[in-house]
Amino acid sequence: MTAYPPLPPFPAGFHWGTSTSAYQIEGAPTEDGKGVSIWDTFVRRPGVIREAQTGDVACDHYHRTADDIALMSDLGVNAYRFSVAWTRIQPDGTGPANPAGLAFYDRLVDALLEKGITPFPTLFHWDLPQALEDRDGWLARDTAHRFADYAALLAGRLADRVEHWITLNEPFIHLAYGYAFGVHAPGRALMTDAIPVAHHQLLAHGLAVSALRSAGAARVLIANNLTPVWPATDAAEDRAAADAYDALHNRLFTDPILLGRYPDLSAYGTGPDLGGVVRDGDLELIAAPLDGLGVNYYNPTRVAAPGPEHGLPFQDVPIDGVPRSAFDWPVVPDGLRELLVSLADRYGAALPPIHITENGTSADDKVVAGRVADPERIAFLDGHIRALAQAMAAGVDVRGYLTWTLMDNFEWAEGFTQRFGLVHVDHETQARTPKDSYYWLRDRIKEWRSA
Ligand code: FCB
Repeated sequence: MTAYPPLPPFPAGFHWGTSTSAYQIEGAPTEDGKGVSIWDTFVRRPGVIREAQTGDVACDHYHRTADDIALMSDLGVNAYRFSVAWTRIQPDGTGPANPAGLAFYDRLVDALLEKGITPFPTLFHWDLPQALEDRDGWLARDTAHRFADYAALLAGRLADRVEHWITLNEPFIHLAYGYAFGVHAPGRALMTDAIPVAHHQLLAHGLAVSALRSAGAARVLIANNLTPVWPATDAAEDRAAADAYDALHNRLFTDPILLGRYPDLSAYGTGPDLGGVVRDGDLELIAAPLDGLGVNYYNPTRVAAPGPEHGLPFQDVPIDGVPRSAFDWPVVPDGLRELLVSLADRYGAALPPIHITENGTSADDKVVAGRVADPERIAFLDGHIRALAQAMAAGVDVRGYLTWTLMDNFEWAEGFTQRFGLVHVDHETQARTPKDSYYWLRDRIKEWRSA
């Protein structure tokens, strides 16, 4: 195995952890009164998921919670980010809480705390109740209010023990894949007409911040997917394309939260009222002070001016000359340093402390004689943690690094074909086999936590 030079020490109390999400691991889609989510529905559409796979069983985590917590405890992490399936708490997205659903997360939280693992629940990781989708999902303003009710129910039960709360996961990806291109649930292909979905998710975030605080939540964050945007060349048209892409992917979801205003979206034919849905007072709610920003980083994005008739003000171009993951994503560790430093430059004093809430890679991992060799993942983690340390040395306040992901799981439209885990999962038998990267990270965490 490659020997890596020692990594720098990290501050005491730094959170080392893993991230997961409910639909990707839990299975048990109808158990204990759970309602139907848009992912339960979407996966049944012919042709949308690789090999027609579903998350019906996923990692069977609902029944194997104790085993999975033991894996985390042996890894030595002190933080775990999971998401709560809204349809376990409110099967139809409204009304009183389902006691069995609350009890599942209550037990999970207690079991984590018993092992010294700080829970970071995410309230929404894309699995909207189907009953709300039937009422127009995130195109409807009412969904934001329903989300705040759900947040209040959950925090009412857990905020006495859970300190850190994450409202939404990656509202940009949900907007783009779910509503603009239709490759994720709910499978709508509205292109730029999907933009109101951004505002309603952000409004839901703002309303939930206040609901969570009223229920006693100490720290509230949001997890945004962020990417450094590189123009293909220095030509003015390519730089304009990069600005337009940056406005959509990054600033649309971070400017209103940290600065209380939307970026210029005129390149998309959209004014500051985002298609007529922004009302007086909304931006004040959305900009309610936060205790942290969750950053999900995978890779930079390179864009060029679009060709004629392209429909969008940019086009993606490949990043050449770097390694690529099994997903064909470019691997650029320094992009994490660049992203963090640029966030600090852009937002200055308005930037709250950062947690890296996702970062990881997929590889074609196989169990051979009881072992899974995944040198690409070790190199990925080493490179990104080093880049993180450089950003921190440059003055960016980062409080934690939660890698994606604990174990191989249901990777949305890719089904089970993309393995992102530190732990290999045999999807036939549910056997868990820690990969080499798991032992590598365990040893690093041991060094850092005892330093
Ligand atoms: C992120 C998602 C997460 C997982 C990783 C690979 O965009 O938040 O659920 O799919 O990508």
